[in-house]
Amino acid sequence: MSQESQIVHEYDGIKEEDNHLPNWWLFILFATIIFGFGYWFVFHTVGKVDTHEDVYRAEVAALKKARLEANPTSDEAIIALSRDPAMVDEGKKVFASTCASCHAAEGQGLVGPNLTDRHWLHGNKPADLVRAVNEGFPEKGMPPWGSMLGPDKVRKVTAFLLTIEGRNLAGKEPQGDLVE
Ligand code: HEC
Repeated sequence: MSQESQIVHEYDGIKEEDNHLPNWWLFILFATIIFGFGYWFVFHTVGKVDTHEDVYRAEVAALKKARLEANPTSDEAIIALSRDPAMVDEGKKVFASTCASCHAAEGQGLVGPNLTDRHWLHGNKPADLVRAVNEGFPEKGMPPWGSMLGPDKVRKVTAFLLTIEGRNLAGKEPQGDLVE
């Protein structure tokens, strides 16, 4: 291949030349194009190889799971549980068999307070509710359930409580402070 430059135009002493592009430059150009197609194909078309984003998402999910498992009664863990219909359903069963006698079938209150309003005697944070279920208020007529139900059922029934709060079912009149 001739590397001689070809003069295309010459006006007023100014030359425009048509030079061959150097081979090393062409090599990089074509290599980049081929790489681009390869990259697009592997990451965006086949989709079998994890992108950095996939790896990141998987790591965050694993971390979150580990954190929930390390502290299963944290507010975060109970809130996560309350978004899982299967867990809430199990909590509902515990409620029906253990709590409904005093708090009524839908939680609207009988002897015990209405758990569907936004008024709370002992706070409505997941941690407050877990404590209420675990320790009860023996001097006020609610037995402690922690040892009888075990931690798993306590968590599930608490998750269920989160799903009925704010439904404001007609039942026992509000008691305690209004908590938003
Ligand atoms: C024997 C009756 C009885 C049973 C059974 C019972 N509770 Fe209660 N519960 C009460 C009473 C009474 C109170 C009010 C305590 C007070 O006045 O401080 C109460 C209070 C509560 C509170 C706090 C309400 C607030 O306003 O802060 C929660 C939460 C609660 N109960 C959940 C449950 C759950 C969940 C169960 C079942 C695992 C259950 N209770 C079973 C009688 C009962």
